Amino acid sequence: MMLSHRVGRACHVLVLVLCLSAAEDFDWSANNHDSFYYGTFPNGFSWGAGSSAYQTEGAWDKDGKGLSIWDVFTHKKGKTFLNDTGDSSCEGYYRIKDDISLMKELNLNHYRFSISWPRIMPTGIRSDHVNEKGVKYYDALIDDLLEHNITPIVTLYHWDLPQVLQEKYGGWQNISMINYFNNFASLCFERYGDRVKHWITFNNPWSAAVEGYETGEHAPGLKLRGTGAYRAAHHIIKAHAKVWHTYDTQWRNKQRGMVGISLSGDWGEPVDITNQKDIEAAERYVQFYIGWFATPIFHGDYPQVMKDFIGRKSAQQGLGTSRLPTFSSQEKSYIKGTCDFLGVGHFTTRYITQKNFPSNRGSTYFSDRDIAELVDPRWPDPGSEWLYSVPWGFRRLLNFIKTQYGNPMIFITENGVSEKMLCTELCDDWRIQYYKDYINEMLKAIRDGVNVKGYTAWSLLDKFEWDEGYSERFGLYYVDFRNKNKPRYPKASVQFYKRIIKFNGFPNQREVENWKRKATETCSTSNQLLAAEEQRNTAANILRLIHDPLTSHMEMVTEVVVPTVCTLCILISAVFLMFLLRKRN
Ligand code: NOJ
Repeated sequence: MMLSHRVGRACHVLVLVLCLSAAEDFDWSANNHDSFYYGTFPNGFSWGAGSSAYQTEGAWDKDGKGLSIWDVFTHKKGKTFLNDTGDSSCEGYYRIKDDISLMKELNLNHYRFSISWPRIMPTGIRSDHVNEKGVKYYDALIDDLLEHNITPIVTLYHWDLPQVLQEKYGGWQNISMINYFNNFASLCFERYGDRVKHWITFNNPWSAAVEGYETGEHAPGLKLRGTGAYRAAHHIIKAHAKVWHTYDTQWRNKQRGMVGISLSGDWGEPVDITNQKDIEAAERYVQFYIGWFATPIFHGDYPQVMKDFIGRKSAQQGLGTSRLPTFSSQEKSYIKGTCDFLGVGHFTTRYITQKNFPSNRGSTYFSDRDIAELVDPRWPDPGSEWLYSVPWGFRRLLNFIKTQYGNPMIFITENGVSEKMLCTELCDDWRIQYYKDYINEMLKAIRDGVNVKGYTAWSLLDKFEWDEGYSERFGLYYVDFRNKNKPRYPKASVQFYKRIIKFNGFPNQREVENWKRKATETCSTSNQLLAAEEQRNTAANILRLIHDPLTSHMEMVTEVVVPTVCTLCILISAVFLMFLLRKRN
């Protein structure tokens, strides 16, 4: 008895040691830039595309929907590029069938979308009112997807908190959000859980916390520097855990689904992989990003490095407690292990080095990290200012996740690239290149042993890009936002992605280059069609301009003014020339 007890204890210690060392064995010094790998993904690998409610649905005040913080934020002047709003966006609310036919064209296995909380609970509070019309919209979407053999992957929170909860309680600054969110999630499990088997509690909580409550670039636009993001994140993590437990105890047996969270993380590469200080700085960057959420969820508490840095800086500021909240031991065990799969959203990479930020100048989330971010000027950056294409960073991040969190099941929930163009360009060869290389690095990561089960291209359609309005287009399909019917046009990347899906990977160099050639061939025809359509629209817009106030048509005004001014210049020069010639004669 005693012996078996001792052996048991020894095994326990061994398992613990193995777990701890497993969490530490990411190799910072080996950045492998292997050449392109031709091969296929495991059988059953799921290919998809994604969207989110506020970014695509439109119908912001239709059929009983309540206001979200994004409705209110975008209706204030100066918050988004050109004061754009998601009021109508892609009109996805009315276009389920059309959009499913686009998914069919791509042959997608899954579609990731989010449920707008205020669409189905206008005030955010279940006992106030459930909006059956809103509930029906998602019912129809789910049914149609399933009818076409497309698996719905559903996000519960993609940043559109009901405005009432923000106004009454301060949104995610307030602990009461945990119960409200749990009630909302319960309604979704109740109404949709018979058909939805993949649930994502939160999308990119990093952004919701940092940009919503620290920098104020996103709704609700609060600038609570040094505390707001940590507090919001604390409540979000607890809310996630509560919803996972609700599913686990009340629904799992009956519905047999999975509940995860989608974390976004840029990769941080040490500027010098032989320099210990750079390695520590890069690790801090990643820990303050994805580790902030993943470490409590997989290990029960915040990363040690966050506790150390924020704690020390808070003390230097003369604060009695750390600005980073703490979990009680009960909370730690409640939160630990609340993830059936990990959603990963990834777009880009930074080089990182150490840089000290003295806390006497006031601390923020950013200065707490003591790092500087750098980019290589040779990295392509076709669209969003922050988005450099660095495919190898994707493989690094995936391997880091594998080693840190015990090789969890992963779904890539977002990956893609934008273009910064307001005019038409369907021949997006740079996007083809981005997808090709990033998907290939994911394939290499799977060969390294990372457990990736699915990939979601971000995004299906061009859509409202938060504070950037419509100026950054992430879609596989181009959306003509100036046309009230919001027609969709395939970009060349549709043809390319479609072939990756069909082949479940990359057959050989000749074939893959052929795909690229064919994709760019077809797009020039679509380009012409779209150009013709846009010309027609411009003509219609000119007529509208005569009646409408100028300010609401700033983009069109430039289109009309520039050619008009040019024509006038030419005419004036011609008259002037004639005048000169006459004078000479
Ligand atoms: C992450 C967000 O979840 C998504 O909504 C956004 O479109 C992409 N980042 C690109 O900025």
